[in-house]
Amino acid sequence: MHIPEMDRILLDESEIQAKVGELAAAVSRDYRGKEVRLIAVLKGAVIFMADLARRLEVPVSFDFMAVSSYGHSTQSSGVVRILKDLDESIEGRHVLIVEDIVDTGLTLRYLLDLLEGRRPASLRVCALLDKVGGRKVAVPIHYRGFEIPNQFVVGYGLDYMERYRNVPFLFIMKPEAQAAGKPAV
Ligand code: IMP
Repeated sequence: MHIPEMDRILLDESEIQAKVGELAAAVSRDYRGKEVRLIAVLKGAVIFMADLARRLEVPVSFDFMAVSSYGHSTQSSGVVRILKDLDESIEGRHVLIVEDIVDTGLTLRYLLDLLEGRRPASLRVCALLDKVGGRKVAVPIHYRGFEIPNQFVVGYGLDYMERYRNVPFLFIMKPEAQAAGKPAV
């Protein structure tokens, strides 16, 4: 696929898949004998969740949430708008939030507080990408894939104006495209 806005590849498909395997092994080990409810935040985490889930060796079920998108004007306040809530109760369940990327941490902080209030048996986070340099609030990441620089990345579920989610690798945008595509915060 020709991607005119691409500057360079950050993580190729084999690096990502190897990491997903490592994360799945750690999750499978920690949850042995338990059933896990995987919760993905739409839409970016869908590809990661699909790959991770297929490599888990414990029984899993899926649920999804949608929240207001990156760069929304409410972001700085940490208030996240729920566009779609979970279908099922998580009370008494072992819940693993599957995130594509943690940047400021505001989305995840909000989700953790919200879901903790619903009394799951346990609540953990698995995030493929961690932009540590972007953090505004502290969040626990129990299973972390890669630490990445504070640049806009696209592919493997992450979009540039809704495009390129299906690209199997992660790439960095050209600076001019980054400026054009970045929502005004
Ligand atoms: P946070 O609340 O700032 O941690 O943002 C988390 C959400 O912002 C992610 O789930 C993504 O949807 C989006 N996001 C943050 N950084 C990037 C990026 O580099 N590319 C695409 N989406 C991003």
